[in-house]
Amino acid sequence: MQPDISVKHLSKVYGDGFQALKDINLEIRRGEIFALLGPNGAGKTTLISIICGIVNPSSGEVKAAGHDIIKDYRMARRTIGLVPQELNTDSFETVWNAVSFSRGLFGKPPKPAHIEKVLKDLSLWGKRNNRIMSLSGGMKRRLMIAKALSHEPQILFLDEPTAGVDVELRRDMWEMVRKLREHGVTIILTTHYIEEAEEMADRIGVIRNGEIILVEDKARLMTKLGKKELRLQLQQKLDKIPGELTLEPVELSDDGYELIYTFDSQQEQAGVARLLRTLGDLGIDYRDLQTRESSLEEIFVGLVHE
Ligand SMILES: Nc1ncnc2c1ncn2[C@@H]1O[C@H](COP(=O)(O)OP(=O)(O)O)[C@@H](O)[C@H]1O
Ligand SMILES: [Mg+2]
Repeated sequence: MQPDISVKHLSKVYGDGFQALKDINLEIRRGEIFALLGPNGAGKTTLISIICGIVNPSSGEVKAAGHDIIKDYRMARRTIGLVPQELNTDSFETVWNAVSFSRGLFGKPPKPAHIEKVLKDLSLWGKRNNRIMSLSGGMKRRLMIAKALSHEPQILFLDEPTAGVDVELRRDMWEMVRKLREHGVTIILTTHYIEEAEEMADRIGVIRNGEIILVEDKARLMTKLGKKELRLQLQQKLDKIPGELTLEPVELSDDGYELIYTFDSQQEQAGVARLLRTLGDLGIDYRDLQTRESSLEEIFVGLVHE
């Protein structure tokens, strides 16, 4: 199946000579949630602004649902909804009018039943006659999503949807995004919160200094780059790691009461059995043990440092 978004050899040099994107290649599949993860200034907003036709590319080719974003601008733009990073909501307009008007901007005929559905899905129906400026912060965020969905786009971009948002609203947003995906909408969100990518994404692309340094299924990323850790709380203090274990990836805690064994989560766990057998042979008893997998955060920090 053709990808919903296809980006080939895309570069962007801003007017002041700053190169914000360097030879980006990326495909987004229909119906997935793709998280573009990267620190501030990495180029996330630049990339999605180009795909959405707001910023001009310097070179390269971008297609949305098969339509070239420059040669076939109108068709490309119709397939896309964008919830921008900056909310622009100091308006006297009512919720209903703003969302209906937004649909008109994409050349779509009025469809009150769709606007009604969008407002109901986003819990804004009760506020449809209220002025935008009177809404709470959370409602304004929802309104931005309603506007982005007004013309029934196949692809929805959310630029830092939960930056500066409280925990409860963040959960709500995640819930909404999942519901949209269930309805077949392709979702691309940018974030600098690793937690968000870990919670939401089917696939993750990591961007740094204008370059995509990795694109991977979330699950595969976690097993491929993840580590597991086994911690053993000892009955008796050890002064140093016994000679029999010096070739194993084992560390001793500062207080001498804990052994920490780190292993690759892809490898089979033969090493753990071997470790426990050796401890048994040496007469080293332990009170308790736990295993732990590395989080995406640890993987990410490792990647960005490489
Ligand atoms: N209009 C512009 N002119 C010059 N530089 C820009 C412009 N917009 C963004 N930049 C620079 O491009 C880089 C990427 O910005 P941006 O795409 O907003 O990153 P992100 O969204 O990942 O935080 C930053 O260094 C930023 O300062
Ligand atoms: Mg940004």
